[in-house]
Amino acid sequence: MDFSYAHRDTSQPEKQSPTAQFNRAEFGAELEEIISSANLREIPVSDRETLTFLTVLLSALQPKNILELGTAVGVSAAAMLSACKDAHITTVEKDKNFAAEALSNFKKLNILPQITLIEGDAGEVLGTLEGPFDFVFLDSAKAQYVKYLPQLARVIKKGGVLLADDVLLYGYVTGEAQTPKKRQMLVEHIKEYIAAVTSGTDFKTTVINAGNGLALSVKQ
Ligand SMILES: C[S@@+](CC[C@H](N)C(=O)[O-])C[C@H]1O[C@@H](n2cnc3c(N)ncnc32)[C@H](O)[C@@H]1O
Repeated sequence: MDFSYAHRDTSQPEKQSPTAQFNRAEFGAELEEIISSANLREIPVSDRETLTFLTVLLSALQPKNILELGTAVGVSAAAMLSACKDAHITTVEKDKNFAAEALSNFKKLNILPQITLIEGDAGEVLGTLEGPFDFVFLDSAKAQYVKYLPQLARVIKKGGVLLADDVLLYGYVTGEAQTPKKRQMLVEHIKEYIAAVTSGTDFKTTVINAGNGLALSVKQ
């Protein structure tokens, strides 16, 4: 399996952030079933701590127009809508099997009318979107995050929020764990993303050690 985009790398011991035990939001029975089924099949969906962070944040922000890059089977999109019931989500997924399963899950959860699922490459689709979006969850191929940044700055409204997932990658990015050779390029790309989003003028950013690392940015 190609883990260049995934959260879960089964070749690595599962490293939990110390706060994970306190961050275990639960959802309705149907979404919990979808999460369990995805976890059993090792489909890379956001971990519980990330879903907790996302839903607490969205409960406060109540964005109306959300963009997600990297749908997988729709877990994070459904979790986001559980926190802001009036929102609309545009979500992009390149894998056609995941996209089909996400659509079926959205139907099961009765949230399909609030979701536009675009099957395609996130970078290509992003260039065609107008926005403005008030919240973006960036969760597709990590190596591409830095390339997407100018387009993200274009489509996110002033004061809008960009949340990028997996930016610490098992402690490799901070140097807390030694990066295996096959992950070195990926780690370099993630470092470039963090450098760009923390030092440029488009965003104000904080990096948070929750889940597998989150970069929370506000558009200036
Ligand atoms: C970590 S998973 C997304 C998990 C999902 N956000 C959730 O938490 O339920 C990353 C997804 O991004 C997709 N992906 C990877 N590269 C992509 C690209 N260039 N364009 C669109 N989707 C991509 C993968 O197929 C995978 O489903």
